[in-house]
Amino acid sequence: MTAGRTRIGIIGAGPAGLMLAHLLHQNGIESVVVEARSREYVENRIRAGILEYEVAELMRSTGLGARMDSVGSRHDGTNFLVNGQLHHIDFHELTGKHVMLYSQHEVVRDLIASLLEAGVEILFEATEVAVHDFATDKPYVTYVRGGAAGRLDCEIIAGCDGFHGTCRQSFPAGLIVEYDREYPFGWLGILAEAPPSKDELIYANHKNGFALLSMRSPTISRLYLQSAPDEPLENWPDDRIWEELAVRLAHDGFSLNTGKIFQKGVTAMRSYVAEPMQTGRLLLAGDAAHIVPPTGAKGLNSAIADVAIMARAIEAFCLRHDAEPLNHYTETCLRRIWQIERFSWWMTSMMHKFDNHGPFDARMQTAELDYILNSSAGQVTLAENYVGLPLH
Ligand code: FAD
Ligand code: DHB
Repeated sequence: MTAGRTRIGIIGAGPAGLMLAHLLHQNGIESVVVEARSREYVENRIRAGILEYEVAELMRSTGLGARMDSVGSRHDGTNFLVNGQLHHIDFHELTGKHVMLYSQHEVVRDLIASLLEAGVEILFEATEVAVHDFATDKPYVTYVRGGAAGRLDCEIIAGCDGFHGTCRQSFPAGLIVEYDREYPFGWLGILAEAPPSKDELIYANHKNGFALLSMRSPTISRLYLQSAPDEPLENWPDDRIWEELAVRLAHDGFSLNTGKIFQKGVTAMRSYVAEPMQTGRLLLAGDAAHIVPPTGAKGLNSAIADVAIMARAIEAFCLRHDAEPLNHYTETCLRRIWQIERFSWWMTSMMHKFDNHGPFDARMQTAELDYILNSSAGQVTLAENYVGLPLH
């Protein structure tokens, strides 16, 4: 048995767990991260792409801005394509802010490099991870690594282990109330060796279904098509994907750049919140506690927002013996989380084709888009939420 001790035991090396370890380290609070997968796996997991304004600022102010500012790109606005008409939303003019296009796996790589350089331990490839005694002030984590059992004693456990992790499932039976919505569609996403066909994103509402044009670099496009939630990939040979993207994204003066597709996958769409986010000395953050549909790019950002709040609460507790912010962690997070849930649900409802919608619902969707895109108040609402609410 390998035995270790630290102040904060963090389960999961996704954006939430790694950023928490980073923020704690900045304040001299020791932590250890316990992760089920290998370093290579987590560093190459392709997911989100957009960082809110304050999340990017947090990266910069904590020494992680250099690669983001050289490899990533600043987006001062975005586009909505409705009925073949392109509407530009100018974030900068409407809010004074922008977003950064920088891949989640690059954020993860930056965090891992910085943590390892600082001497923060990340226990990759730990299996059978379990959390214990969090109703007391002496919680601990057990795991198996390289065939040997390990135990990590700590003061607080941060459950950053994603939607399918073990921490939320370890809450006492009956404590958590779940709020859940599944959508009747998913996103078929591709990465392709094709220069982006537009300098900023295009969110398209089309009678065939939603499409999104995004990018990862000057040579790589990231594109999505609304599909069935369990759409078999065999239904979508590359030619059909390009044809359908060209139809859904078509507008005056636009031509779609195509290229070799090197990644293809389907993501189901769901809204989910677990309340409360803490029990005793076990606190949840990110996807472990809540999920949003991807429309509006909030998943990664809300995971970072949780741990910014958690890090401040842990600092008050560990450095100033003030348990108040920790005791109020759930309610502080939930206020912001429900705003994010509302925005992601609203964007999803406004932009997708709902097969169960009658003619009245369809007209309501059109009227809503007409208002949001053509009223300055509507545009500010959209822009303010997209660039991100304050991180507190
Ligand atoms: P995760 O990133 O899920 O990290 C959790 C970590 O815990 C993982 O490394 C996992 O291996 C580890 N873990 C799990 N169980 C255990 C265990 N028992 N013990 C130890 N470690 C464990 N969001 C967007 O905004 N835009 C997008 O385009 C987008 N695309 C997505 C595509 C996919 C396929 C998925 C799944 C999500 C996508 N998201 C997107 C959501 C976004 O990526 C997540 O919200 C974000 O990763 C949440 O970060 P997290 O750290 O909370 O969780
Ligand atoms: C991306 C994903 C999103 O869900 C979104 O709203 C914007 C961009 C992306 O993967 O680039």
